[in-house]
Amino acid sequence: MQLSPSGPIKVLVIHGPNLNLLGMREPDVYGSVTFYELNELIVQEGKRIGCEVRIEQSNHEGVLIDQIHDARDWADAIVINAGAYTHTSIAIADALRAVRLPTIEVHLSNVHSREAYRHVSYLAAVVTGQISGFGPHSYLLAVNAAKRLVDEGRF
Ligand code: DQA
Repeated sequence: MQLSPSGPIKVLVIHGPNLNLLGMREPDVYGSVTFYELNELIVQEGKRIGCEVRIEQSNHEGVLIDQIHDARDWADAIVINAGAYTHTSIAIADALRAVRLPTIEVHLSNVHSREAYRHVSYLAAVVTGQISGFGPHSYLLAVNAAKRLVDEGRF
């Protein structure tokens, strides 16, 4: 395991609404990996590259905002799949803007190849970058991106 000089970096991974149903939710779009299995993959990748990962999920916008606020006190970076709130929530975008942590927006599906309303992301202008369309691997790429951003001090 590679470690930063100051030890493992701390990454908050946030899953928004309906992502708790992964595995049984629209498997043709989101695949058959369950929410539990996805989180295991994320934690294992974090360990492999020297990241301590904390995972949160909520179906409620305000709870997601509280989790983002709390990250100020302990996290080095955020990985967020805000689900449908990506396309609607100025409040989540404002929360990310307020905490000013390096943030990667992720999506399992390629949102740009889907319905037009999924092409808009209120988070896009606030986050460091986006990863979309690689299924569960989107999250693993995002954890690697978070590690790199923090190691390089690029935010
Ligand atoms: C999603 C894409 C969103 O448009 C959708 O509302 C989701 C999941 C994805 O991971 O592909 O809930 O964020």
